[in-house]
Amino acid sequence: MELEAAVRGRRSIRKFTDRGVPEVIVEEILDAARWSPSWGNTQPWEFYVLTGRPLAEFKEDNGRMLEEGLPSSPDVPMPEAWPAALKARYGELGKGMLDMLGIDRADKDARNQLYALMASLFGAPCMIVACIPKESLVEYAMLDVGLVAQSICLLAHEKGLGTCIMAAAVRYPDRLRKIASIPDDRRIVVAIALGYPDPDYPLNRFERKRAEIRELVHWVD
Ligand SMILES: Cc1cc2nc3c(=O)[nH]c(=O)nc-3n(C[C@H](O)[C@H](O)[C@H](O)COP(=O)(O)O)c2cc1C
Repeated sequence: MELEAAVRGRRSIRKFTDRGVPEVIVEEILDAARWSPSWGNTQPWEFYVLTGRPLAEFKEDNGRMLEEGLPSSPDVPMPEAWPAALKARYGELGKGMLDMLGIDRADKDARNQLYALMASLFGAPCMIVACIPKESLVEYAMLDVGLVAQSICLLAHEKGLGTCIMAAAVRYPDRLRKIASIPDDRRIVVAIALGYPDPDYPLNRFERKRAEIRELVHWVD
């Protein structure tokens, strides 16, 4: 696959088929992704790959905790406030997803259905959890995880797989830590849902937006 087409064509997948991802394919993806850059080549990332029974257990627990409205306590704090422009884009994404599913924003129960889908990783048969050592400075290690996460998503896309990077999957790290035997000295950063996309599902087809290039780029010459 041509690189620009891969970068432009990758999108977050929010419904997967039941087809499992062969272990060898996940290994090929991670084997290539480890060539991503990192601060001083520190490669702060570590991955826990969940499939089968442990993943099913995680999804079940995650859904239940979400439904019960258990306060989340992620290892990396989640943003609570945004600058106005970012907040608007975030709101637009949420609205776009609800519209695509025909869910009225005011309908709390229907909205909760979307969150339940999210808690179950949109049916993904595989989840890659990215961690960093707790004693490393979080900011640059997070940047490094971002780089490797994008590599994973692009490599998966090239193989006809879909991904969704998910903060929603690491809201309750204690439970995940237990299920995946992640040591206490690791910070759970983010998870990537991985599987074969269901091409017909509306959430896999809605038009994504990006800010105009003139909003982002400041030429100094
Ligand atoms: C750090 C991070 C966390 C994310 N968490 C979630 C999530 O919890 N649920 C979700 O549906 N999408 C999540 N996403 C996906 C973004 O919503 C998505 O990347 C963005 O809307 C751009 O759309 P695209 O990936 O289809 O290009 C996350 C993405 C990133 C980078």
